[in-house]
Amino acid sequence: MTTRSRIIGCGSYLPANVVTNDDLASRVDTSDEWIVSRTGIRQRHIAADGETTSDLALAAAKNAMEHAGVTSDDIDLIIVATATPDNTFPATATKVQNRLGVKGFAFDVQAVCSGFIYALTTADMYIRNGQAKTALVIGAETFSRILDWEDRRTCVLFGDGAGAVVVQAVEGNGTTDDVGILANRLHSDGSKYDLLYVDGGPSTTQTVGHLRMEGQEVFRHAVTNLAGVIREVLSDAGLEAGDIDWLVPHQANQRILDSTARKFGIAKDKVVVTVDRHANTSAASIPLALAEAVHDGRVQRGDIVVLEAMGGGFTWGASLVRW
Ligand code: ACO
Repeated sequence: MTTRSRIIGCGSYLPANVVTNDDLASRVDTSDEWIVSRTGIRQRHIAADGETTSDLALAAAKNAMEHAGVTSDDIDLIIVATATPDNTFPATATKVQNRLGVKGFAFDVQAVCSGFIYALTTADMYIRNGQAKTALVIGAETFSRILDWEDRRTCVLFGDGAGAVVVQAVEGNGTTDDVGILANRLHSDGSKYDLLYVDGGPSTTQTVGHLRMEGQEVFRHAVTNLAGVIREVLSDAGLEAGDIDWLVPHQANQRILDSTARKFGIAKDKVVVTVDRHANTSAASIPLALAEAVHDGRVQRGDIVVLEAMGGGFTWGASLVRW
């Protein structure tokens, strides 16, 4: 027998305020046509004044717990993936823990857009070695707070939101037929840190800073790295591209999604897309997309689902799950 981590519930939360491309065009020199043709993004949700990452995370967590049919007493681990925490410390996860009344332990993971894959992989390891039975894994971001709203090259690309999953230990046979997480792979390459970074922080400028990015370089690396890591999880699980029922990618850019799907011969309608409505919500984008595809009935029990992301660091990774 092998312990596996099964996703038993999904939840999401998006701030009420929707900002369209036309709204942005009244602030910076851009257009709906430019943004849609280069990225696929049509709108994004932006947190209200005073609405913090932990508020978003809490709402998504409650939604996921309700879907999973678990209470605070059942949760023994909370991991929040975020690059936009409420405070430098304590971890946003401990704020969520307090507001949910969960015992156990809670911490944040910081891998920017890959944060959810890093957090899910970490939860999977705690579950498989018996240190946790039921984990809440949350991706939550308020990137609107670290954008330079004068920089048209970056401010049009991102949005705020949160997604969450409840992951629980189940017994499997150790084979590909098991339900739950079948493979995870993580990578990072710190030599590329200056292609996508925030130009501030407690130990450097003592400010929060703003996001800076070399868009074309990021694009080029994203396509190559994502293809490589998808190949790795397929191989680890003993599966092939044709076995993938759903690709749930980090939602950065429609052109990256299309190019990744094309490389593996995955039909367009098997790729879960939210980038048009959410823009890039960093660590929140995968659980947001997953919650949508699970709640509307697209993802069914038994399906093979591949989650993948790449982000600042660079960091990248993938998880392969039998639903
Ligand atoms: N509106 C209008 N014009 C713009 C805008 C804008 N919002 N932004 C840039 N431009 C202009 C540039 O100034 C430039 O003008 P110039 O030729 O007069 O200098 C022109 O458009 C072309 O700029 P490029 O940067 O070459 O545009 P590109 O086609 O590469 O598209 C983009 C930029 C969309 C950022 C693309 O590189 C990209 O998607 N990269 C991936 C980045 C990404 O998704 N990052 C997210 C985080 S990492 C991740 O999640 C994978």
